[in-house]
Amino acid sequence: MEVRLQKYLADAGIASRRKAEELILAGKVQVNGVTVTELGTKVDDKVDSVFYNGKRIINHEPMVYILLHKPEGFVTTVKDQFDRPTVMDLIKKVKERVVPVGRLDYDTSGLLILTNDGDLTYKLTHPKHNVEKTYIAKLYGTPDENDIRQFKYGVHIDGRRTEPAKLQVLEENGKFSVCKIVITEGRNRQVRKMCDAIKHPVATLKRVATGKLELGDLKKGQYRHLTEAEVKYLKSL
Ligand code: URA
Repeated sequence: MEVRLQKYLADAGIASRRKAEELILAGKVQVNGVTVTELGTKVDDKVDSVFYNGKRIINHEPMVYILLHKPEGFVTTVKDQFDRPTVMDLIKKVKERVVPVGRLDYDTSGLLILTNDGDLTYKLTHPKHNVEKTYIAKLYGTPDENDIRQFKYGVHIDGRRTEPAKLQVLEENGKFSVCKIVITEGRNRQVRKMCDAIKHPVATLKRVATGKLELGDLKKGQYRHLTEAEVKYLKSL
């Protein structure tokens, strides 16, 4: 990201922005080997090397961890080939380059983490990673004991059995039921396919928790920064 040189120096903790301006005007700052005394000069931390006092100033972006309540009707990619709205449209005020951790379908709502912490993203999306993901699903019809047992032993989807999963009927509601579903993998449209397999297709789907991290009462489209304890917890998984 391009920023003004004085901001770059201030963000790196070299001096206040005012003081950084004085350092630039005094010819003490070099960009790519050239002394710069123009205050408007923009630098990009990915491309440019900034030197002060003979030392390279590396300005790492602070790590940010966001929990978004993704509404239906948004894709979980940074850019969509069909120009549909993306979750990035919902977090415009976040200036760090965060990316979604894993995916939620276009028509699924709920808990989505976004971060610029590449290590955490890698860890949480690795296929071996088996943290429980909890969903509330409105299903057509009401699953019976046999369906619940099938979930427990794993359901055949895409030619392969899923890991054991939990299915609990919370509410019966005429044509529909409201169920709590817990899975530990992140296969493509997994919950929808598992519910299709037991002949109780999903009408609506919402992720309410990843491990112990809960969506809580965030409204659709709203987000918050994770607390330090929550970040610590995710890193410990
Ligand atoms: N399972 C699904 O089917 N869809 C999601 O978005 C997440 C899990």
